[in-house]
Amino acid sequence: MRLLPSEYMGPQQPPPQGQPKQPIPGVQHLIAVGSGKGGVGKTTVAVNLAISLAQRGRRVGLLDADVYGPNVPLMMGTNETPTGVAENIRPVVSHGIKLMSMGFLNPGDKPLVWRGPMLHSVIQQFLRNVQWGELDYLVIDLPPGTGDVALSLIQTAPLSGAVIVTTPSNVSLDDARKAVNMFQQVRVPILGMVENMSYLIAPGSGERIDVFGHGGGKSTAEAMGLAFLGELAIDPDVRIGGDTGKPVSLLDAKNPHAAPFRALAERIEQRCKEEAKEGPKITVED
Ligand SMILES: Nc1ncnc2c1ncn2[C@@H]1O[C@H](COP(=O)(O)OP(=O)(O)O)[C@@H](O)[C@H]1O
Ligand SMILES: [Mg+2]
Repeated sequence: MRLLPSEYMGPQQPPPQGQPKQPIPGVQHLIAVGSGKGGVGKTTVAVNLAISLAQRGRRVGLLDADVYGPNVPLMMGTNETPTGVAENIRPVVSHGIKLMSMGFLNPGDKPLVWRGPMLHSVIQQFLRNVQWGELDYLVIDLPPGTGDVALSLIQTAPLSGAVIVTTPSNVSLDDARKAVNMFQQVRVPILGMVENMSYLIAPGSGERIDVFGHGGGKSTAEAMGLAFLGELAIDPDVRIGGDTGKPVSLLDAKNPHAAPFRALAERIEQRCKEEAKEGPKITVED
């Protein structure tokens, strides 16, 4: 596929204050999955959330906005090249999810050396020029932190809300708070906080080990007035599922590896409904 050079792309700037953000035709809800820190399981949550929503009968797309570290192709088990031209790109489909990722365009181990404006325009194309079709949910896997790409995306996309992923460690929680503040500054509703890698069940003894501490996600969410969306254990099958392109959420809903992600998807759907009732703050910036 071919991308247009950045000078043909718009909008280059976030919409003027007070203007509604342009919806994506056919897409009902945009959910951003963010974190302060990398390596906390953001892509793992985004991928398993997308599949769990699809397993619940929803039509789902997954946009990988982590342009410097796009892991969605590996975790979704595909490295196809999207077809089509700049304003009419056909997404790759894997496990029933429509996908777009920089990893499809820049495969292998070559690092990207693009600067901000180019990245911004590519993200806008991923959002607006991909034929997402009719979707109940478009999940967006954000890059870690509060950098340019994350900010330009959340300022221009009509997000229904953000899911913040953290581990229970203080370093992760510190950065998660910064991510929450970034979303709140640009009036994006926070759907809630997920504590990933909460604990490990020791094989054999069944003893629970709190590798990164315990309860920090819940207490931080409560202190910030946010919904707590649940704990996800450290589960070797989750890592294997990611590395082999067959995420655990493809398993039956009752399977103990898949069930926590199904519960998370259900909770996030509920939170989207609650936020939708709240009205226009979703699409209008002050
Ligand atoms: N709950 C979990 N249990 C086991 N491994 C996990 C879990 N969550 C994430 N991982 C693994 O940790 C690594 C980092 O996760 P990833 O989703 O890539 O993080 P991020 O997107 O925040 O950088 C991956 O190898 C992933 O498979
Ligand atoms: Mg990632």
